[in-house]
Amino acid sequence: MPRIAFCCVFFFFFVSCAGTGLSQEPFHNGGRGECSQCHTEPPLLLGGDAGSTCLRCHQAQAGITPAGQHYVATDTATFHVCVQLPPGGDFCWLKKNYSWQAAGEEQAQGSTGESHGHNIVAVDYGYGPDSSSSFAPGGSYPVASLTCISCHDPHGNYRRLESGMVATEGPPILASGSYAESPDPDAAGSVGVYRLLAGKGYRPKSLPGAPTFAWDPPLAVSPAQYNRAEASGDTRVVYGSGMSEWCRNCHQGFENFCQHPVGADALLPAAIIENYNRYIASGNFSGHYSTAYTSLVPYEVGESDFSRLKMLAGSLGESGPAAGVNVMCLTCHRAHASGWDNMLRWNMQAEFLVYDGKFPGIDNSAPTQIAQGRTAEETRKNFYDRLVSSFASYQRSLCNKCHVHD
Ligand code: HEC
Ligand code: HEC
Ligand code: HEC
Ligand code: HEC
Ligand code: HEC
Ligand code: HEC
Repeated sequence: MPRIAFCCVFFFFFVSCAGTGLSQEPFHNGGRGECSQCHTEPPLLLGGDAGSTCLRCHQAQAGITPAGQHYVATDTATFHVCVQLPPGGDFCWLKKNYSWQAAGEEQAQGSTGESHGHNIVAVDYGYGPDSSSSFAPGGSYPVASLTCISCHDPHGNYRRLESGMVATEGPPILASGSYAESPDPDAAGSVGVYRLLAGKGYRPKSLPGAPTFAWDPPLAVSPAQYNRAEASGDTRVVYGSGMSEWCRNCHQGFENFCQHPVGADALLPAAIIENYNRYIASGNFSGHYSTAYTSLVPYEVGESDFSRLKMLAGSLGESGPAAGVNVMCLTCHRAHASGWDNMLRWNMQAEFLVYDGKFPGIDNSAPTQIAQGRTAEETRKNFYDRLVSSFASYQRSLCNKCHVHD
């Protein structure tokens, strides 16, 4: 009898998880959510502005400290370290200003909060526009208008059809299309595009002066659990294609602005693929294709076939690059924010990412010009809670994952 009871509990648990295949109750469900959760009476919003309306649900409530669910911002009033770990990064880093003065240096150096990412406007939550420029670098998108709905369509109109095309009209959206467990679109129903991102022709209704998007959303697939510590395994979003092109909706001038090949044509040649697969850490080149992947240095697989993308996001989560993969903007940057300048995935301003076997911090023995004002805990969060032992004792830049070999 106890055994049967156990099996039933297990069975129900399994079934309830398998119902949607997703880890939480849908709200947007890939398309338009319940009007009253964002509007008092359309078009009037519940929040002080569009971004604040989103953060009512997307900033973790006070007291919720571990990473989890759909949170993209930590409540800094109650918690001093940015702890949310979604692939796009925690907007809370925009509120973290650092300064330090190395011994022998005359001038203090700094890393301002606003240099850590996309400065979204969300007044109720203390987020305002970047003060250092008026327009997107390499484009004409007004900084004062940058917010969640600059990139995400709040009404989730963009959908992926059975043919693979993206459109704003067609069969109704049945579910999110972002996940390995998402249904496939068919003649009766479509699925939402990746992360409700906006596509061709988009511009928020309230911003008639903003440039209109020329590119459709990227093709990508996320695992159902995507906001988590990566100590025991990476969160592998499989980026298929189109991310760099999509970023150019606002950064048109960034063909090769970062002095680096990027986009569909920036294929990894065989020698770089070999480097990536063998590189484990500075000085350690004993890696293998089957375990080479790290979400700290992602790339696009150059695929648009969702059965392939879903398989990669699911069962082959750790395998490294093979012929056909390319460099994209998110190889080096996060999409929302990070703890480092230019919302880079790792610190490009310091010689070492790990020093003397520790994540550098002002609270340990790291030199000032390596810790750069951060605590060791903050540095660890930027590595998504990985174990320091997964790096070299003196770990250098992760550009080396592709560019250094023994
Ligand atoms: C996830 C939040 C969210 C949900 C759910 C939502 N809206 Fe909106 N809506 C917004 C935001 C944000 C704007 C402001 C857009 C802008 O500033 O251009 C908006 C604007 C509007 C507008 C005016 C401008 C426009 O884009 O057409 C109308 C009308 C509207 N919503 C109707 C609705 C209706 C009807 C529903 C339910 C079927 C709904 N909305 C559900 C967030 C939402
Ligand atoms: C009423 C609470 C609520 C509000 C308001 C809200 N969200 Fe969400 N959001 C959720 C939940 C719950 C999920 C996860 C389930 C889902 O995707 O439906 C989610 C998921 C998402 C996702 C991932 C969806 C996918 O299919 O991959 C994006 C992107 C997102 N929200 C953006 C926004 C933006 C932008 C706004 C403001 C215009 C907003 N949300 C407002 C609750 C909310
Ligand atoms: C500059 C464009 C941009 C802005 C502004 C932006 N997002 Fe995103 N967002 C993205 C992209 C791109 C992704 C996919 C990131 C990935 O998979 O690496 C994403 C992912 C997400 C996700 C899924 C979790 C994750 O990190 O992948 C949620 C939820 C979300 N955004 C909500 C928001 C909310 C809420 C805001 C405003 C507070 C916002 N976004 C502002 C581009 C943007
Ligand atoms: C809707 C327009 C829009 C899209 C789409 C967009 N950006 Fe931006 N981006 C901006 C604006 C405006 C700024 C300047 C304001 C700021 O830095 O907060 C900016 C700034 C940046 C910066 C400098 C950040 C800093 O703090 O110094 C980087 C890096 C960047 N974007 C990368 C990207 C990447 C990568 C993508 C694609 C995932 C992308 N952007 C998509 C509008 C956009
Ligand atoms: C190989 C890594 C790499 C790739 C790929 C990359 N970037 Fe960058 N990006 C950087 C670095 C490093 C910086 C810091 C500034 C510098 O050293 O040039 C930067 C800076 C930026 C800035 C800030 C520039 C300013 O004037 O403030 C923007 C915006 C930006 N990148 C957008 C993009 C976009 C959009 C893409 C894709 C089309 C992209 N980057 C691809 C590494 C990269
Ligand atoms: C995902 C792999 C990858 C990562 C990570 C990466 N690169 Fe590259 N890099 C490439 C590829 C691919 C090329 C093109 C080389 C080729 O075709 O032989 C390239 C070329 C270059 C070149 C030569 C530029 C040219 O025009 O030929 C430089 C310099 C460079 N990378 C620097 C960097 C720096 C600095 C970083 C870190 C910010 C970085 N790379 C990160 C893959 C990568």
